[in-house]
Amino acid sequence: MRFDILTLFPDIIKAYINKSIIKRALDNHLITINIINIRDFTLLKNGQVDDAPYGGGSGMVLMCEPVVRAIESVKTPESLTFLLTPQGRTFNDEMASNLIEKTKHLILVCGHYEGFDERILSFVDGEISIGDYVLTGGELPALVIMDTISRFIPGVIKDESFQNDSFKNNLLDYPEYTHPRVFRGLEVPEVLLSGNHAKIKEYRYKEQLRVTKEKRPDLLK
Ligand code: ADE
Repeated sequence: MRFDILTLFPDIIKAYINKSIIKRALDNHLITINIINIRDFTLLKNGQVDDAPYGGGSGMVLMCEPVVRAIESVKTPESLTFLLTPQGRTFNDEMASNLIEKTKHLILVCGHYEGFDERILSFVDGEISIGDYVLTGGELPALVIMDTISRFIPGVIKDESFQNDSFKNNLLDYPEYTHPRVFRGLEVPEVLLSGNHAKIKEYRYKEQLRVTKEKRPDLLK
């Protein structure tokens, strides 16, 4: 999978990808990340990329020209391009796996200030939000999406960790324990010490159901 991240703050993206599992995926050539500075595509003096909104109002709006030119510098017939905005469809596990099925090239465009000139929507495939709250920019959403999708790519994480992840089959992950066996009177469930793999598997599945019912009953509906 290739990701192109279009941003006004390339350092934010670089800082994260150099210190994470994503770095391992990059080093192993399982993904490619290309960071593009939208400012490099303005035709205006002083690197201007935004301007005051028509009709008045506070804040600045990202202009069409630099954003569309930046998109066109990387876009191919196979790519899918999304603006990161709070108005977009809410990102989740299912959307991540659908995107992997649909394309090998994702272009994620990070907004800032009051948002994008609406006409930019005519040059992309859609908008993605990571939740019902407003962030100061699209960099965190881009990283969230890239991180989630990367975990789906074979070889990025261990296959077993992936299989039991929360949200697979609409179930949350089962609880995990490690040493010591007793911590301040709290014991590790006996079955996990039994060495009986069939029993452990059954216990973990039951735990997934219990935890999902308790913490996220909406997933079972
Ligand atoms: N930009 C600002 N807030 C956002 C959000 N919640 N999701 C995606 N992009 C955003």
